[in-house]
Amino acid sequence: MRASEVARGWRMQTVWTVLVVALWLPSLITSEAKSYEATEAGPKKDVYMVVFDQMPIVTYNGKILGLRGTSKYFSERWRKAHKRAHISDLVKKYNAYLVKHQDQILTEFFGYEDCEKVYRYTHLVNGVALFLTADEAERLAKHPRVVRVQKSYKVFKSTVHTPEYLGLPKGVWSQCGGPTGAGEGMIIGIVDTGIDPTHPSFTARGQKPYGPLRKFRGRCDVGPGFPRGSCNGKIIGARFFNAAAKKGGFNASLHFASPLDGDGHGTHTASTAAGNHGVPVIVNGANYGSASGVAPRARLAVYKALFRFIGGFIPDVIAACDQAVADGVDILSLSLGPNSPPGGSSSTFLNVLDIALLNAVKANVLVVQAAGNGGPYAKTVTSFSPWVLSVAAGVDDRTFRNTITLGNRQIIKGTGLAPATRGAGLYPLILAQDAVQGSGDPSLSPSDCQSPKLYNKLLVRGKILICTYSFDYVYGGSTMQQLVKTVQSLEAAGVALVVDSDVSGGKYEPIPLAVPAIVFPTSADSNTLLAYYNRYTKKDRSGKILTFGATAKIGNGLTVTYTRSVQQVALFSSRGPNVKDFNFNEADILKPNVMAPGYLIWGAWTPIGTDNPAFTGQRFAMISGTSMATPHVAGLAAMLKWKYPKWSPAALASAMTTTADVEDRFKRPLLAQNPSPDAYPLLEKATPFDMGGGALNINAAMNPGLIFEAGYLNYVRFLCSMSTPREVLGATKTACAGVAGKPTDLNIPSITFANLVGTAHVPRTVTNVAPIAEKYTISITNAPDFVITANPAVFTIGVGVRNKQTILFTVRATKASQASSFARITFTGSLGHVIRVPVSVVNKRLR
Ligand SMILES: *[C@@H]1O[C@H](CO)[C@@H](O)[C@H](O)[C@H]1NC(C)=O
Repeated sequence: MRASEVARGWRMQTVWTVLVVALWLPSLITSEAKSYEATEAGPKKDVYMVVFDQMPIVTYNGKILGLRGTSKYFSERWRKAHKRAHISDLVKKYNAYLVKHQDQILTEFFGYEDCEKVYRYTHLVNGVALFLTADEAERLAKHPRVVRVQKSYKVFKSTVHTPEYLGLPKGVWSQCGGPTGAGEGMIIGIVDTGIDPTHPSFTARGQKPYGPLRKFRGRCDVGPGFPRGSCNGKIIGARFFNAAAKKGGFNASLHFASPLDGDGHGTHTASTAAGNHGVPVIVNGANYGSASGVAPRARLAVYKALFRFIGGFIPDVIAACDQAVADGVDILSLSLGPNSPPGGSSSTFLNVLDIALLNAVKANVLVVQAAGNGGPYAKTVTSFSPWVLSVAAGVDDRTFRNTITLGNRQIIKGTGLAPATRGAGLYPLILAQDAVQGSGDPSLSPSDCQSPKLYNKLLVRGKILICTYSFDYVYGGSTMQQLVKTVQSLEAAGVALVVDSDVSGGKYEPIPLAVPAIVFPTSADSNTLLAYYNRYTKKDRSGKILTFGATAKIGNGLTVTYTRSVQQVALFSSRGPNVKDFNFNEADILKPNVMAPGYLIWGAWTPIGTDNPAFTGQRFAMISGTSMATPHVAGLAAMLKWKYPKWSPAALASAMTTTADVEDRFKRPLLAQNPSPDAYPLLEKATPFDMGGGALNINAAMNPGLIFEAGYLNYVRFLCSMSTPREVLGATKTACAGVAGKPTDLNIPSITFANLVGTAHVPRTVTNVAPIAEKYTISITNAPDFVITANPAVFTIGVGVRNKQTILFTVRATKASQASSFARITFTGSLGHVIRVPVSVVNKRLR
């Protein structure tokens, strides 16, 4: 039975849940519900998620059924029970109870009428997704046992497609290779577009055998393009969730009713997190090095809930997360997000997805999410909550350079990622416009080289064709693929692509090209080549070429150059401040949290992938986005959890964010690509609103010294500090206890004030995770309009029961200002540990 099941009537509904199905029930696939068609004549229906008042399994405290054992965290018991690799009676009983409870409410409400259920959630959310009219949804929201009704909304892959920015071509983290073997026994859950199970990055053949992993309770759906055996130990689980997508354009022949990836995005992100080590990256027959996941020995559990062309729907995504946590993943990697803050609740932190993710964290699963691609503007982050680790995208110093050598021995530099012209000889140059023959398609610009028919093949054959990267390549229909086809078809020796002054500034994102080629992203270099061409090409009065005197050879552009430029926050990477509600009010929570490579990242691709036409038919692709940054962090988190199996999600996140780099190895501060009047982004010192703690540093994260611990009840307390107890109780089923604190009290490795009035006190508690005592000294950089002091500023932290130290920070506004300003708190240990805590303040008032 699939989670995507749609039942006709409540009574017919077989009792199922993510838990029970996983292990106990035989396949119960109900007829692929065509039932909703009958309703389509009536009033317009949509998918709504309905959340009930009882606790979901993860939050369950053992009380309702009178079962013994009200342990503080039910999930702890639950997890322990599962070490025996079977479902505990407690969970089964509670699950059955929830199902009954859900059915009672809905029967009460709908009678025995049809009620089309899209999903039943019991794990992270106690609720259902239903196909309802707006009127039904409104009435259901008033039911006393219903705490929340949320209409489905779309979510998107966090990749960027259009080369609307410049930046130097960037980094392949995976080629630096994570330590091989690390991540053994860890399971990374990927909620994405599925996976290509045949890809060498995921083969188990030739690898140290992947034995069974008893803690994993998931399974593999079999379907089109995903035959039995696709789960091979490396891929340990694979499911798909399309029940909501079915109402939004899901088409089995386009989107595959199986975990098969038809897009490329999910295959790419999975390979970045945990692809096999040392897989050769071969595109167009050229070898671009080898790729490795960050945690090459980790297992992958794949939950397909996004689809090529149409994106995804939140009820499917929540079903996928629910299943992943029920299955027992260690890390959940979400390279997806909404386009803007979801409405429907008083705060972004209370939306259904974020509360489900809070429950995932309660079940001890670290959730890593893309920060979004809405940059470089403020308040564009679409990953909100303090219990989620939100990842920004960085651009490193890799470039793909090449040169062209002209007949007059002049050398012009350009961008490569393409092979050299054959041999050592020089080839005549011919400008595309000069090769046009009569019967061309007038709708095509002759300079773009988009159709071989436009040109005289006899003239072009054996020459280097000069084409123009025009406005149409960026915003219109001209493509690099078509350019390459034209060059191949005309049997040109190669192609030199000059930039049109319209797009000058290099709005060209390099992609591997199958023909000898060089691209000149700047007008200056383009004009140098054109001037040379014009000088040596003799024409008669009619424009007919008499002699082709301009010659050149293109160098080998397949090798990478490291420029030693400072790592930058990518222009597209979403920026803080974080927003706490639909109206974009600012939150006292830092987002994004950390930055990882996300620009021009090589990763596995499915040949049927449609996400990026430049890589159609290829096994690898080089793409950009906070989507690409996210699985780097998920992979590192798996390695950390492998090393420190007892660490909480907060500890894992703390280790990665506090040890992140804020400077490069030459001590230059990291930069952020910001908007500028010309095509080149303005480079400014990166702030915490650009990159959170900084750029991920694998080695430092593995040994942070101190961590900031926080757990479920701390997060609930945080919610209580900003929302009404009633709302918090409804969302989390946990009561607000004691005096409501302040949002800034939450023990996270950052301090953020949306609005600082006078002086505020901020407690933080660090926990020593090193095996011995260490003396720490706190140093603080002060911002122009506020100051911070620490008490104590020097302390020695022990081990065992003495491994905690609370520091009270005092933050005082010294100048009224609405400008964002930033400081950094550094803890320097006597044994070499260094951790940093970013401080961000937006509005400052003196009193
Ligand atoms: C599904 O996609 C196929 C292939 O593109 C197309 O032929 C068919 O009409 C589509 N079906 C629907 C219901 O849109």
